[in-house]
Amino acid sequence: MGPLTGKRILLVVGGGIAAYKVLDLIRRLRERGAHVRAAMTKAAAEFVTPLSVASLTGDKVYDDLFSLTDEAEMGHIELSRDADLLVVAPATADLLAKLANGLANDLASTLLLATDKKVLAAPAMNLRMWLHPATQRNVAILRKDGVLFVGPENGDMACGEYGPGRMAEPLEIVAAITSALESDTAIPLPPGIGARASGTNGTLAGKRVVVTSGPTHEPIDPVRYIANRSSGKQGHAIARAAAQAGADVALISGPVALPDPPGVQTIHVQTAREMLSAVDAALPADIFVATAAVADWRMAETGDSKLKKSGNGAPKLNLVENPDILAAIARRNQARPKLVVGFAAETNDVLAHARKKLDAKGCDMIVANDVSPSTGIMGGDKNAIHIVTREGIDSWPTLDKDEVARRLLARLAKELTA
Ligand code: CTP
Repeated sequence: MGPLTGKRILLVVGGGIAAYKVLDLIRRLRERGAHVRAAMTKAAAEFVTPLSVASLTGDKVYDDLFSLTDEAEMGHIELSRDADLLVVAPATADLLAKLANGLANDLASTLLLATDKKVLAAPAMNLRMWLHPATQRNVAILRKDGVLFVGPENGDMACGEYGPGRMAEPLEIVAAITSALESDTAIPLPPGIGARASGTNGTLAGKRVVVTSGPTHEPIDPVRYIANRSSGKQGHAIARAAAQAGADVALISGPVALPDPPGVQTIHVQTAREMLSAVDAALPADIFVATAAVADWRMAETGDSKLKKSGNGAPKLNLVENPDILAAIARRNQARPKLVVGFAAETNDVLAHARKKLDAKGCDMIVANDVSPSTGIMGGDKNAIHIVTREGIDSWPTLDKDEVARRLLARLAKELTA
C-alpha cells in the first residue's frame, strides 16, 4: 500500500499542448492505486481526445456542465466533493484567471469553485503568458487562497522559445499530489457554518511564525551549484502546522519539490544570502524556526561563464563562509523573536553536538536528529528528534514529520505563553 492507494483524484484538464502529458500522469497515478476521474475543457479536447483519457482513467470523461444525464447520475457539486484532491493539469492562463476571479462558466471552472477540497495546479503556457503581470497577479491571489502549485519549469517550449512555462513532468506532479495528500485536504468553512476541519486548535492565533526550509543552492558558475539532500519536508510541515494552529506564517524556502503549504506566505529563494534577507524582511515574529539546511559555503566569486576543463586538472574552488542565519537572528538585540529554534542534523554524537550548537548559535531550543543515511530521515517522511534546551533534553519516538511539527508547535505555543 502506497500513499496514493485508494485516493480519489479529480483531474481537470486544460487546453494546452502539455495536455498530452496528462495521459502519462493518469497512468502513473493509477499504477500507484489512485482513482482518477477527469473533467476536460472544450479546448483540452482539441489537444487530447476524451476517448484516450477515458480509456486510461477507466471512467467516463466529464465535459459538459449542462449534461442532464451527468446531473442525474452525479451533479457537479458531488463530482468535485467526491475527490480527495483536485489537480489542474495543464493549468492554462485562462483557467488560472477564472479560478483567481471566481468565474464558473463551464464545467472545469465550476468544479474548481464548488469544491471543498484542495486544488493543485500544474501551470503550462508560453513564457510571456506566464510572466505577464496579469498571470503573476492571479497566481499570487491563488497562492494566498491556498491553491498549491507544482512548476512551471524552465525549458524549451513547443512554440520555440526557452524559459519558464513548461508543465512539470508527470512524476513531479505525482510527488506534489502525494505531498498535498499528506495533510488534511479539506478546506475549512468559517466557524458556525458546516463542519470545521480538524487540526485548527488556534493555539497560535494572533502570533507570527517565520520558518526556513529546504536546502540552499550556491552557484559555482551559471550551470553548477553547491547543494545538499534536504527535502524541506520537515520545514514545510512546521509551516503548515503553524498555520493550522492559527498563526500568521511566512515560510522562506530554498529550492524544493514540494507545493507551497496552504495558508502560508511562501517566499522562494536560492542562496543563503537571499534566505537571510527574506527572513529579515519577514520579521518581526514571535517564533523563528530555522529548519533549512543552509549551505555553509559559497564561491568567493562567480563569473558569467561556465567553468571549462583547462587540461591542468580540476579547478580550485575558492569558498567563503555563508552568513549563519540562525545565529544572526538569535543574537539580535532588537526585535529578537521571543523563541528562536534551530535544527541540528548530525550523523554522530547527536546530543553532544546539539548542546554545543544551542550555545554557539544563542538560540532557545535545538531540535536534533540523526541524519545518517541508515535512518532514512533525510528525504523520508519520518523523524526521530531530541528537543534540547538549557533545561534539559526531551527525546521523542519516531513520528511522521507532520506529527513532529504539530507537537513541536504545541510545545512552542505553551512556552510562548509561559
Ligand atoms: N543554519 C543557518 N544558517 C547557516 C547554517 C545553519 O541558519 N548558514 C541553521 C540551520 O537552519 C539549523 C542550524 O543552523 O537550524 C544548524 O545547522 P547545521 O547545518 O546542523 O549546523 P552548522 O551551523 O552548519 O554546523 P556544522 O555544519 O558544523 O554541523
